Amino acid sequence: MKILVTGGCGFIGSHTVVELLNKNYEVVIVDNFYNSKREVLDNIKEITHKSFGFYEADCCDETAMRKIFKENKIDAVIHFAGYKAVGESVAKPLMYYQNNIDSTLILVKVMKEFDCHKLVFSSSATVYGSPASLPIQEDFPLSTTNPYGTTKLFIERILTDIAHADNEMGVVLLRYFNPIGAHKSGLIGENPNDIPNNLMPYIVKVATKELPQVNVFGNDYDTIDGTGVRDYIHVVDLALGHIKAIEKIKDTAGVLIYNLGTGKGTSVLELIETFARVNQVEVPYQITDRRPGDIAACYADPTKAKEELGWEAVRNIEDMCQDAYSFVKKVKNL
Ligand code: UD1
Repeated sequence: MKILVTGGCGFIGSHTVVELLNKNYEVVIVDNFYNSKREVLDNIKEITHKSFGFYEADCCDETAMRKIFKENKIDAVIHFAGYKAVGESVAKPLMYYQNNIDSTLILVKVMKEFDCHKLVFSSSATVYGSPASLPIQEDFPLSTTNPYGTTKLFIERILTDIAHADNEMGVVLLRYFNPIGAHKSGLIGENPNDIPNNLMPYIVKVATKELPQVNVFGNDYDTIDGTGVRDYIHVVDLALGHIKAIEKIKDTAGVLIYNLGTGKGTSVLELIETFARVNQVEVPYQITDRRPGDIAACYADPTKAKEELGWEAVRNIEDMCQDAYSFVKKVKNL
């Protein structure tokens, strides 16, 4: 089975490509390196000792997308490509709507032209907005608080409408909780160039002394220690969830929705403490004001994915902290 992976050089995309190749799927990557690095291609080869197709192209480029489908008989697509920074999306909503939505519309249009009807979409727990209760189940009400989240929600609706109108179409919407960690090899992982927005990459940059301290955004939430609680999930577990989604959708039509999380909440201070302990490194922090738009706690009920996909996250917070740091130490020769 040949799978096209859009954004296959990105953080979650690259880990998913590795797991697809490990399971002997044929893989074609399309990536424009907007938020990823070319060397990821060599690193995927080094990990898997397998070859795969690659196109440097933007998914908004219809001609380029058509060329990929013309040159390859694609059976299914996993669609990761998209802009993902919440703050930037508030400042540049047009850029976010245009890129994330256009690329998906073009992708699906070309898929249909070439008789490809199976799609796994990279959505986010951000579509649950501020949940009324926890843990979060897939049928909870949906809402968003920023344009990035709204692109995810809109794309979910667009894909649902398309699937309803076409009884051959099979779509899986995967709602990720907070992906962190890295591949055990230390060859692929998350390494943003700028000052990170998300907690784990920030902790890593403090551990490597590129930044002085972690700013903990509020310690007066109604949580175990007052700091925000999230469902951190190892990126390799998340990648394996995509394999299960592909296995499920290949013979099914309609829309299937799954939370991909561990079901366990971890606070900001617990994550900092665990990172410092398992890596034997100092992670200084200070408490600052809350970040506008943040919620107190968010974690998944992952039962549906377990029952219907046979998928479950198995890596713990210690593994996530260790693997994230090993990757960055390797990149920076520390
Ligand atoms: C954020 C996005 C979410 C997106 C996800 C991708 C917001 C409001 N939400 O989720 O839409 O899908 O990233 O992974 O940005 N924290 C600190 N100090 C920091 C950074 C974060 O204390 O420097 C805290 C936050 O307040 C939060 C927790 O750490 O409690 C996790 O934050 P983050 O990693 O940014 O993820 P989310 O906010 O959950």
